[in-house]
Amino acid sequence: MTHPQDQSSVVVPEPVVDAARGASRIVVLTGAGMSAESGIATFRDARTGLWKDFDPKDLASPEGWQADSDLVWGWYRWRAELVRRSEPNAGHIALARWQERAHVDIATQNVDDLHERAGATVLSHVHGSLFEPYCSDCGVRAQLDDAAMSEAEADQRVPPPECPVCGGLIRPGAVWFGESLPEDAWAAAEDAVRAADLVLVVGTSGVVYPFAGLPAIARSAGATVVEINPVETEVSDMADYRWRATAAVGLPALVAQL
Ligand code: OAD
Repeated sequence: MTHPQDQSSVVVPEPVVDAARGASRIVVLTGAGMSAESGIATFRDARTGLWKDFDPKDLASPEGWQADSDLVWGWYRWRAELVRRSEPNAGHIALARWQERAHVDIATQNVDDLHERAGATVLSHVHGSLFEPYCSDCGVRAQLDDAAMSEAEADQRVPPPECPVCGGLIRPGAVWFGESLPEDAWAAAEDAVRAADLVLVVGTSGVVYPFAGLPAIARSAGATVVEINPVETEVSDMADYRWRATAAVGLPALVAQL
């Protein structure tokens, strides 16, 4: 696990500190940028993003699964192994510490488990989890050991395991394009932002809906919205304050000031 470094040189914008100090219900919405400093590629970075080298139609859609389930299963095994070999970064750890002393709900698009491994509780994995595969036919959750979920190359075809209940194919636990979000996860995220007085939007490009609509819902329900991202995004306009920082630098510096 990486540890927070000395944050004394990081200047946290005053309005952000004030909003965080005054908030009693905080929601942190996270995307792939949250885990970037753990070494996990984002999706849309022009040089290193996953969608630069891989086609979401092939790997993250029901049609891709129908066409070549071995390719899809191998790719998700590869991703699960990369996550397993990564560590939570200082931003994940800062959020876990913040949860110890304030009401902080985390709703994430990330299918990794780095928030949890940093000690945080995640209210909602709205795009599912790499570590919760289930049967594509009967829907039962699959209990797979680590060996059945690791050590594949990105383009290696690996036949998915069979469901012990119905014999169907076990599929990855991530939500794919064209699929509905898990209802409970979405409802929890939406309820949380409606009840929040501060919403931090961390490391998402804000292009995938409905998650990308949460900052607007928060804003219209009266929350202060702060974006933490090194660059401008599709949801920047929804933010009351845009802080151009990275997750692993900004979040520990903010939490250290509270
Ligand atoms: P993207 O790859 O679209 O965006 C990542 C964002 O993180 C960008 O805005 C980056 O500027 C920002 N970023 C990069 N490094 C950062 C850092 N160190 N700290 C903070 N921010 C940083 O990823 P998402 O917005 O999460 O869905 O993508 C949304 C969804 O699209 C994913 O959940 C996935 C993907 O296709 C599905 O697969 C259904």
